[in-house]
Amino acid sequence: MTNKEIKIAYREYETIDGLEAEDKALALAAIEAMKSAYAPYSGFNVGAAVMFEDGEIIKGSNQENAAYPSGLCAERTALFYASASRPDKAMKAIAIVAGQNGDICSNPATPCGACRQVMAQYQTKSGRPMRVLLVGADKIWRFEKVDDLLPLIFDSI
Ligand code: THU
Repeated sequence: MTNKEIKIAYREYETIDGLEAEDKALALAAIEAMKSAYAPYSGFNVGAAVMFEDGEIIKGSNQENAAYPSGLCAERTALFYASASRPDKAMKAIAIVAGQNGDICSNPATPCGACRQVMAQYQTKSGRPMRVLLVGADKIWRFEKVDDLLPLIFDSI
């Protein structure tokens, strides 16, 4: 028997202004996307922005439904839209932010398991690491690749 350990490295920034220019642009796009959230049931507004290798940004937000499971998270709305509208472009980063009552949540928005799995798929499709920015009002976390949020990724078929 061998004990093993997985370590995850990530960076914490205090403000959006402390981010590199490209990350700042993506974080601001996610904040903008949050304004289009349709969340009449949870009141939890989430915005996501995906950046392609050429710098183009595609935005998405959570879209809820009276039949709850028919709704979709912001990350998957953005990722599916990005892949469907630019099928031949590689994605290089995604930023996510959540808010309530018009205010950005103080802690970074951490994506649900299903969204992590979908991020992993588009990272594989893109053939390169996808950076993940989790934006909060009080701190921002930057992960260099989806694997850091989903260790031992399932992508075997
Ligand atoms: N939500 C997201 O948009 N992304 C996540 O990663 C977690 C949750 C949305 C789904 C639902 O509209 C609301 O937040 C409350 O769960």
